[in-house]
Formats: sequence, structure tokens, C-alpha cells
Amino acid sequence: MKTISILNLKGGVAKTFTAANMAYELYRRGYKGLLIDNDKQGNLSKAYSRYDAENVAPVTKLLAGDWESADELIQHTEYEGIDIVTANMSLFGATWNLTKEDSGNQIERYKALVYAKVQYYGDCTIYGKYDYCIIDNPPDIGLNVVNASSICSVTISSPSKASSSTFTGTITSSVIASAFTTLSPISGGLSMMQ
Ligand SMILES: Nc1ncnc2c1ncn2[C@@H]1O[C@H](COP(=O)(O)OP(=O)(O)OP(=O)(O)O)[C@@H](O)[C@H]1O
Ligand SMILES: [Mg+2]
Repeated sequence: MKTISILNLKGGVAKTFTAANMAYELYRRGYKGLLIDNDKQGNLSKAYSRYDAENVAPVTKLLAGDWESADELIQHTEYEGIDIVTANMSLFGATWNLTKEDSGNQIERYKALVYAKVQYYGDCTIYGKYDYCIIDNPPDIGLNVVNASSICSVTISSPSKASSSTFTGTITSSVIASAFTTLSPISGGLSMMQ
């Protein structure tokens, strides 16, 4: 399984759009993909019609380490071959709670999911089941983004159109580059594309 993370500190630059369409295109080519909506806005969950505003979101349980089996975190979408770990505003609280915790295993949370077994697929691990894992991130680098980077093989800084705020985008790219210089030892083999 290859894990691709879509990241940019700028908002509204098509991170979610890229994640949603990349998953669909890979599905069309016959690959199996797991989406992780790592943004409290839940827009990727909405794109695949799995948004639930009421209950604690699966990605929140993932970040909090509050889950027992991967089957309780993963939902199927209407496309057989695209599954999703959904998000909602509950992720906001979980990210804050993490700042109060002992930092010991904070970056291991998302890693635990990768090697968890999914009984639905005949006791297969997530790593073995899916060809791709695509992570959509919020326009910031919070603890949930740091956690997610621990399972990434490729990070894509989504492109932004030249405009009056392109200056911000330029800063964004350099900030992300420096952040990932720090994060790459955590992930073990991270590369970055722009
Ligand atoms: N190639 C495109 N052509 C036209 N509109 C686009 C394109 N890509 C994205 N959009 C539109 O741009 C808007 C922002 O896209 P999107 O939600 O993917 O950005 P984002 O980076 O995920 O935002 P946020 O930082 O808030 O999560 C959406 O309304 C989307 O439909
Ligand atoms: Mg988005």
C-alpha cells in the first residue's frame, strides 16, 4: 500500500478535490483505495456521501487511540474499492486533547491502523488490502497532520493558482518543506511532490 498525503497550509486550493478525484481515478483503473479524511471540515466525507455530523467520527477515534477493530473505523462508499475513514468537528477536540497527553506514543496512532486487520475482508491487514491510502488534510499542520505523516510515503503540496495571495502559497511551500525535513525521520521514507 502506498500512502499519499495532500497538504498545503493555504485553504481552498483543491486539496480535497485532489484527494477525492485521485481516489476515483485509481478506482477506475482497478485499484483499491482507503481514504482518510483528516480534516475536521469533513469535506472528503461529504464528497463520498458518508458525512455524519452527530457521532464521534472514526478519524477522531483513530487520533484518540479509542478503537478496537479497524472495521469500526472504515466505511464502504458506493464505489466498491473505495473505503473511507470519515471526519467531522469532533476531530477538533481530539486534536486539542492530544496536546494534554504524554507525548510518548502520539505519532503511533495512525500507524496502528495500517497494520490492523479488517475482518470484513477476510482478516486481511489494511496494508495488504488496499493499493493506496489517500489522506486529505486541513490547511494547517496540527497534531493530526503530524500523526498522519507517520504513515505517508508521498506528500503532495497541492498547487495554487498565481494570484494576489500567491505570496502566501510560496511561504506555504517552504514551510511545508521545512516541516517535512523534520517529519521525514518519523515516517521513514517520505518524499514530497509539488
Ligand atoms: N480544478 C478545479 N476547477 C474548478 N474548481 C475547482 C477545481 N479544484 C477545486 N475546485 C473548487 O475549489 C473549491 C475549493 O476546493 P477544495 O475544497 O478541494 O479546497 P481545499 O484545499 O480542500 O480547501 P480547505 O483548505 O478548506 O480544505 C471547491 O469549491 C472546489 O469545487
Ligand atoms: Mg479540504
